[in-house]
Amino acid sequence: MNQPPPGPKGKWLTGSLPDFRADPLAFFLTMQETYGDVVSIQLATTPSVLITHPNDVQRVLRTNRNNYSKDTRGIHRMREFLGDGLLTIIDEDRWRKNRRTMQPVFRPRAIHQFADDISSLTADMLQDWSGVVQGAPEMTKLTMGIAGRCFFGTDFDGTAVLERAFFNVMQVNQNRFRRAINSPLWWPSAENRLFGRAIRELDGFLEGLIRERREQPENGDDLLSMLIESRDEETREGMDDAQLRDEAITLLGAGHETTANALALTLDLLARCPEIWGRVREEALAAWGDGGPTMDALDRLPFTTACINEGMRLNPPAWVFGRLAVEEDVLGGCVVPAGTLVMMSPFVTHRRPDVWDDPLSFRPERFLDTETDRHPFSFYPFSGGGRSCIGMRFAMMEMQIVVAMIARHCERLERVNPEVVGWNPLLTLRPKDEVPLRVG
Ligand code: HEM
Repeated sequence: MNQPPPGPKGKWLTGSLPDFRADPLAFFLTMQETYGDVVSIQLATTPSVLITHPNDVQRVLRTNRNNYSKDTRGIHRMREFLGDGLLTIIDEDRWRKNRRTMQPVFRPRAIHQFADDISSLTADMLQDWSGVVQGAPEMTKLTMGIAGRCFFGTDFDGTAVLERAFFNVMQVNQNRFRRAINSPLWWPSAENRLFGRAIRELDGFLEGLIRERREQPENGDDLLSMLIESRDEETREGMDDAQLRDEAITLLGAGHETTANALALTLDLLARCPEIWGRVREEALAAWGDGGPTMDALDRLPFTTACINEGMRLNPPAWVFGRLAVEEDVLGGCVVPAGTLVMMSPFVTHRRPDVWDDPLSFRPERFLDTETDRHPFSFYPFSGGGRSCIGMRFAMMEMQIVVAMIARHCERLERVNPEVVGWNPLLTLRPKDEVPLRVG
């Protein structure tokens, strides 16, 4: 007999929102420990459930995915600046068409051409790496530079204005997400005006780039140019300018902060484990000779790759995402009514002791075992099913190159202020401090 999911009673009107806001990660962990696989949580007026068992996540993201839509409050907040890009499209048919058009751009053969840009930007960064460096801002600057070069064929160095515009958009978006009630964006509050100005700056920049690429298509071998060239495999239709704008800003939004946080938090872990760092360095030094890494060299980095995966197991940048149940469903033996927000948290699943042995320890070797009978949804930093991350291969290649090049450069990597542990869970999971590292 299926039951309604158990969960905390919460306060009148606000439900569990105050507890969630105070410390979302601790709140989610406690909910799973106390109530189990499917937990009913009232966040203000939204009836929600938190699911963390791999079977239930698999049902929502893959086996019964047609019953789960992206028509959620979180996606509506993101649409305020990402528009109708791949990440935030709600309509399934349009999503399928756009994904089909964009998929070839992200095939391994297409993205491998970016390896040289990634390694030359990393080499530039490492020239200044001695003494103490701030790992988190360094990774943000690097991934922003990589996004500029690989996505848009431009150097963001001279465009600090653009970086600030993007930062402001993300910040305001975050504030709006955290508040139960927001003014409409046309209301002339200081925050809304800041948002509007930043969006106009970003749009102006992207529209200029799109115009330039359309006029001189021979000049670009970046992702934007590939998108301009792309055609739906069935209908042969290309993208119009509005769609290109939304996809371009989505690439920037989805593709740089996630990777920066994964890198910063993985370096944080590595800097606390000298023995593991020694193995990463040894592997990186043996993987290629002088100059930047070749694609073959990346195949010779299994341990480094395992460290990156283990880093994302403990610190998944997309620590929570949601879907709306279209019709009633049963998850983990509990009835989930139509209209429920279903929240999935890789952060919690990746820490469940019934899913992972010794889940709180950083043990990269667990990802070396290829014979494992691990559940496909025990590890899902890039989500899973149809709407999984289209940039996964790009992100993995980027992180392999960056970590291996840092390892070749730094015999020593130590965490300054190791007593600082924890996160700042915003739209993505950020480190709590700037991850100061002593390198040499
Ligand atoms: C470590 C880095 C990254 C992580 C952890 C990550 C994670 C994710 C996750 C969890 C989703 C699914 C979100 C949901 O279901 O609501 C997603 C979707 C997406 N990601 Fe990534 N991502 C990363 C890097 C990138 C990069 C580098 C790009 C672009 C080059 C990118 C572009 C996208 C896009 C366009 C989508 C939407 C896909 C669709 O709905 O069809 N991501 N990502």
